[in-house]
Parts: sequence; C-alpha cells; structure tokens
Amino acid sequence: MIHRFDTIDSTMYEAARLAAAGCPHLTAVVAEEQTAGHGRYGRPWHSARGEGLYVSIILRLDVAPAHLPVVTLALGVAAAGAIAQAAGVHCDLRWPNDLLIEDKKCGGILTELHGGAVVAGIGINCNHTGFPEELRGIATSLRIAGGKPVDREALLNELLKQVGFAASLLQEQGPEPVLRLFENASSYVRGRRVVVELPEGEVEGVTEGLDPSGFLLLRRDNGERLTILAGGVRPARTSCS
Ligand code: BTN
Repeated sequence: MIHRFDTIDSTMYEAARLAAAGCPHLTAVVAEEQTAGHGRYGRPWHSARGEGLYVSIILRLDVAPAHLPVVTLALGVAAAGAIAQAAGVHCDLRWPNDLLIEDKKCGGILTELHGGAVVAGIGINCNHTGFPEELRGIATSLRIAGGKPVDREALLNELLKQVGFAASLLQEQGPEPVLRLFENASSYVRGRRVVVELPEGEVEGVTEGLDPSGFLLLRRDNGERLTILAGGVRPARTSCS
C-alpha cells in the first residue's frame, strides 16, 4: 500500500509510525514535498515541491543485525536499477548510500530500524532544473543528466518493484549476491583513491572491496588496511606534480 501526502515533515517519521503500528512489508509513504526532509547525520535533504521522489518504504526483513549495513547497499542497487529502467539514466553508487551522476549527487538512502522493521528512506532528484547556491556544485537531477523530464510515478513503481526484489534476494540468499551487485555497480568500491572522513580525522587510501558485512576496505599508503564502518567518502585529489 502507498500512503500519499501532499506536504509532510518527513516521510521517515510517518513510516516509523506505520512500522510501529504493524504495517505490512513494502508499505510506502510518498510526499510531494517535505518540510523536514533529512539524510544521514541529520543533514537537510532538499525536498522541493513536485520535483523529487521522496519515499520511505517499510521492510520486514528477518536479517541478522550484523547484516543491516548490507540493506543500505541493497537499496542502492535497487534505486540505481529503477533509475536506469524508468528514466534511462545510469547512476554510480558511492559507498554506502549515495547515488551519483558524474560525481554529483542525484539521490541518497537513509536506513533506520524501528521496532524490528527497517525504514528505507530514498530521495531522488528527478525534475529539478536547478539547485540552491549551496548545492549547485554537488547536486544534479535525472532531468539535468538525461535531458528530459522524468515520470515520477513510473519511477516510484519501478523502485517499489526493485526494492522488493532486493529485499527477497537478501532474505533468501544472504548478503553475498547483494555485495557482488553493489561492487559491480559502484566505481568506488575497488581500486579508487579516496579520502574518508572519520570522527577522528580524514584518511586517504585506495579502496579494496567490501568485507562480508558490507564495510569498505581501504589500503593506506603505509600498507595498513582499514575497515571503514561509517564515514563520508570522496575522491582524493590527484597531485599534478
Ligand atoms: C542521504 O543522502 O543522506 C540520505 C537522504 C535520504 C532522503 C530521503 S527523502 C525521503 C526520506 N525522507 C527523509 O526525510 N529522508 C529520506
């Protein structure tokens, strides 16, 4: 079932309420506009009226808590697949939760646990023709990239289908196939020089794939191998000297 709102604070709050009330697997909350849309670390999510897809989907998954990070990766694979299918635009996946086109963000995923259910928040910049000043250098939309408007309803339907597939895959076969799909769809996961922002400071290195829990492996220049549990990843600046 899809619960539709014209304006809402955040689809995450309504989805959390529905999850607590026992709604079924794949119940979705969609809004035309959010007044308190947010992403990871509580950062605001630009939720301009009628332009993006703002949806939270409740997943009743019987996955071990250790496999929860993989749910975010599965959602990324599903979102990129839905975008390719419904909008004809290819996205890259930046571990753990960003959808990118030419290194600019066109979507993001926020995964939360509410009373045993996963609330999967997905924001996709669809028909924006511009962004506020502070986002201009880092955000893009499917319309800007693809050169034509996107049918948000078709995208929503495809997204719900692909999220359903990804959830079943994870439930039935465990993390392994999801990790492989993510790695195949992401230019960031292997052989990419990146900077990772950690609470204790930034580290630079080359990515070396995902561990069995879906964490990112990073080889520093001193040979040390780090397992990145969380943190912002960005391309490292290459030196020109
Ligand atoms: C991120 O990139 O940090 C995640 C962004 C998630 C945004 C979506 S929009 C629908 C849902 N409602 C929210 O308030 N956030 C998510």
